[in-house]
Amino acid sequence: MYKTMEEFIKEVEVLVNETQDELELTSKISSFMNPILENPFLLNEEQLLVKKNGFTLNQVHIAPDESFSIGVGIWDVGQTTPIHDHGTWGVIGIYRGMEKEESFSNTGTRRNGSTVTINPTGNRLAKPGDTFVCCTKDTDLHRVSCASDEPVVGIHVYGGDLAKIPRFKYDEISGEVSSFNTGWDYAKTDLQ
Ligand SMILES: [Fe+2]
Repeated sequence: MYKTMEEFIKEVEVLVNETQDELELTSKISSFMNPILENPFLLNEEQLLVKKNGFTLNQVHIAPDESFSIGVGIWDVGQTTPIHDHGTWGVIGIYRGMEKEESFSNTGTRRNGSTVTINPTGNRLAKPGDTFVCCTKDTDLHRVSCASDEPVVGIHVYGGDLAKIPRFKYDEISGEVSSFNTGWDYAKTDLQ
């Protein structure tokens, strides 16, 4: 039996309020997310809009106390993000399409204009129904691509309001770090 987004939001609210440990929290959110991914009516037309230039992070819910936020991340066929961080924890569930995620370690400081050493640490191919922790406060460098011949659509849950968290992207060759912020407007964001 599938679950609605409203039911999932209520569950996440409870989990965020009662769970202090980040690993425990993200692991629970990941397991609670599975039943919404089976819901064929989970998202409305607006939430499925795809931006052709850049990437899409369509807003679904921001907790009134800004303790967490939920969006729909969509990468069109051929789209790839730069290497980027989040500055918070995050859980992703794949709803449609396939997603490739490349993870990296960072031996330098997250600061605009600084240069760091980036090393690849692994790859993951995710299919519909897969849920996983995409980032923690400490380890969250990755690059994400669409790996299917249809857009990949994922449900993203982040600690805090992602639009208010300072974030950074990293040049793979030079290691140069530059700051950016996420926008929540429909199909207006640069990264997710
Ligand atoms: Fe990301």
